[in-house]
Amino acid sequence: MALPELDYKQYICGLKEFFSRTKTTPKAMIVTYGCQQNISDSEIIKGMLKQSGYEFCDSYDKADLVVFNTCAVREHAELRVYGNIGALKPVKKQRPNLKIAVCGCMMQQEQVQKQIKQKYRHVDMVFGPSLIYRFPEMLYKSITENIRIFDRSEHPEIVEGLPVQRADNNKAWVTVMYGCNNFCTYCIVPYLRGRERSRDPQNIINEVKELISCGYKDITLLGQNVNSYGKDLEMDYDFADLLKDLNDLEGDFWLRFVTSHPKDCTKKLIDTMAACDKVCKQLHLPFQSGSDRVLKAMNRNYTFDQYVSLTDYVREKMPDIVLTGDVIVGFPGETDDEFEDTVRLVKRVEFDNLFTFIYSKRSGTPAAIMDNQIDDAVKSWRFDRLLSVLHPISKKKNDAYFGKTVKVFVEGESKTDSNVLCGKTEGGKTVDFMADKSLIGSFVNVRIIECKTWNLIGELI
Ligand code: SAH
Ligand code: SF4
Ligand code: F3S
Repeated sequence: MALPELDYKQYICGLKEFFSRTKTTPKAMIVTYGCQQNISDSEIIKGMLKQSGYEFCDSYDKADLVVFNTCAVREHAELRVYGNIGALKPVKKQRPNLKIAVCGCMMQQEQVQKQIKQKYRHVDMVFGPSLIYRFPEMLYKSITENIRIFDRSEHPEIVEGLPVQRADNNKAWVTVMYGCNNFCTYCIVPYLRGRERSRDPQNIINEVKELISCGYKDITLLGQNVNSYGKDLEMDYDFADLLKDLNDLEGDFWLRFVTSHPKDCTKKLIDTMAACDKVCKQLHLPFQSGSDRVLKAMNRNYTFDQYVSLTDYVREKMPDIVLTGDVIVGFPGETDDEFEDTVRLVKRVEFDNLFTFIYSKRSGTPAAIMDNQIDDAVKSWRFDRLLSVLHPISKKKNDAYFGKTVKVFVEGESKTDSNVLCGKTEGGKTVDFMADKSLIGSFVNVRIIECKTWNLIGELI
């Protein structure tokens, strides 16, 4: 059923009253898959639930509500979701009052909603990413009327001011734009997240100002392609203008952003990055392939040479830049030689690190019906070969830090050893070092004494 448009705040109040009347403190567990955008959406879901009276837990057994925020970018991600939803069937049987909501990109697909409706009858609520603001409404109705709700409608207008329960006190994500217009032929995202919509710059500036005043020090601006920020606004204002305005805000903080598309990465943006002291010298610039033919078939709108000149310009302006990217191996029709062009690009650009992906067929995208889908064994071989080329480059890039003193933002204890602190450099490199825990949340200077492939070891100055 589709729900009528109503103010979400009224349902947050309704839920709160319901729980206070029934003298219960419900517990919610949120499971998030996918990219930073989903992680950020989950913080909003948590914010709304907290205001509605929920506390949070991390086990199915304790939960009164389980929310799966899903990703559809690769098949593997989807299969995991089905597996985890399926695992809740016996739990729901034992505790029929348990509510299960499934949202996120995967749920914007018609066939997925259909499948869940029919085969996963223990699921109560299903909706896509643009309907997050209506979650309190769905939850209220599901609890008070005990109905199942499936909603695929899209709500392109940006809803400002939703409550956020941030996972961290020092690091924060700020979405600057939603959706994507690029339609890379392998990618499902534009079909699920809709067209590009930029937030009003003043709203972003106010949010960042508020974060800085609350002590946030490491702020990442989010969007599928932040470089096209502003194109849909009725004003002459682009992403570089936004960066500059945010950089001008008072305070000691770092600004980062993901993700950039090479076709929209202008010299103005690079010059602005170079000139803004609070904008981290870190650029994530997915290239996907090094073959001009494959790039064309992917609808990426740049060539090997254009990508290389762009990264040369970036390095000329910011010699210390940490450069990363995304790459796909095994796109339909990719020949051995074309794959070697990708290897050549990786060697030429010398990335600090890469997110490497094996092509996954996404039904509904143009690439899914292309001839010459590549054999799994070939894809795996190419994937391994690419990593074997990348790893020594990553190590070499890290080796260059040996003996240097770098500014580090102290994030917390190291995951592997609670006696060691873990921080990030401006370029986003992980540094482990011994120091007092009171330094968590501040900037310190660290001298690098050991360089590994994935992290740096340092000593506090
Ligand atoms: N908007 C961002 C991120 C999109 S999804 C960008 O354009 O960079 C993150 C990455 O997943 C993409 O960059 C791409 O490398 C990878 N990806 C997307 N669709 C894929 C598919 N069908 N198979 C394998 N990898 C894919
Ligand atoms: Fe997908 Fe391309 Fe858009 Fe990124 S830019 S979300 S890869 S269509
Ligand atoms: Fe996945 Fe959606 Fe992000 S498909 S990668 S969660 S935009």
